[in-house]
Amino acid sequence: MAATITFGIQKGGCGKSTTAGIFSYLLHQDGFRVLTIDMDSQGNLTELLSEKPSNEFIGASVLEAMQQNDVRAHLHPVTEKWDLLPANNFLATFPRWIYTGKTYNGDNVPFSGNPSLILDELLNQVRDDYDYIIIDTPPSLSEQTTNALCASEHVVVMFECSNWCYSAIPNFMSSIDAANDFGSRGTKMTGILRTMNDVRRSDAKAFNELIAEDYPDDVFKTIITRKAPIGRLSLYGFSENSELKSGIDQYQNFYKEMIHRVQNG
Ligand SMILES: Nc1ncnc2c1ncn2[C@@H]1O[C@H](COP(=O)(O)OP(=O)(O)O)[C@@H](O)[C@H]1O
Ligand SMILES: [Mg+2]
Repeated sequence: MAATITFGIQKGGCGKSTTAGIFSYLLHQDGFRVLTIDMDSQGNLTELLSEKPSNEFIGASVLEAMQQNDVRAHLHPVTEKWDLLPANNFLATFPRWIYTGKTYNGDNVPFSGNPSLILDELLNQVRDDYDYIIIDTPPSLSEQTTNALCASEHVVVMFECSNWCYSAIPNFMSSIDAANDFGSRGTKMTGILRTMNDVRRSDAKAFNELIAEDYPDDVFKTIITRKAPIGRLSLYGFSENSELKSGIDQYQNFYKEMIHRVQNG
């Protein structure tokens, strides 16, 4: 059965989508069967992995998978043994559908289950098809995020070294605890990944140290720095990118740390 991992924090620009994409890629390179799910209506991860505009997935996304209760009909193959459940702007209508039964195109598809467990229950259809399921989340504690948390055993908290990200952490931790209480997967925080570090800036160093003092056992040793090839990944993608290796090299150590934590509880 797949291990399911959510990458999250309710703040934008912390490297969630980039990290979820690179982590999925490294799992795939390692020979694992991977399903990557985009739960952010911005569709950034969808565009990174499919190399297509997210509008191409209107009617064929994770939203319809949830509304029609059918994962397999909505999978987009990234490559062999790696699938994507894509997203587009219409995923923002997910809460409206849950609470009114109205879909974005005006259909009536009443929903009567538990609003936070829709994704979790849906994924039961395919958990045995994959080794890992990776979920990217939006920069808010919305229904998309609570569904992702309740569907996951593991959560990586993304920490971009700034005060506003620091102040977002307590509420995110509470949401993980709530998913643990409310859901059935034993959701827990597996670690905190420090990202987007500018090695020339002393403020980043200060926030790195602050978070390590607060959560000494949880921070990953690996700290992800800002690198131009990672910034350009959204432009060149994974399939034909001559600078891919130099861009994602620093993620190899995070990958090893994370797999170790997942496999050793
Ligand atoms: N390590 C990095 N070095 C340089 N640019 C990065 C790095 N990580 C992410 N980026 C860029 O920073 C922006 C925000 O990253 P993203 O993954 O979209 O964050 P989030 O999903 O948390 O909003 C994107 O333009 C992305 O390409
Ligand atoms: Mg994102």
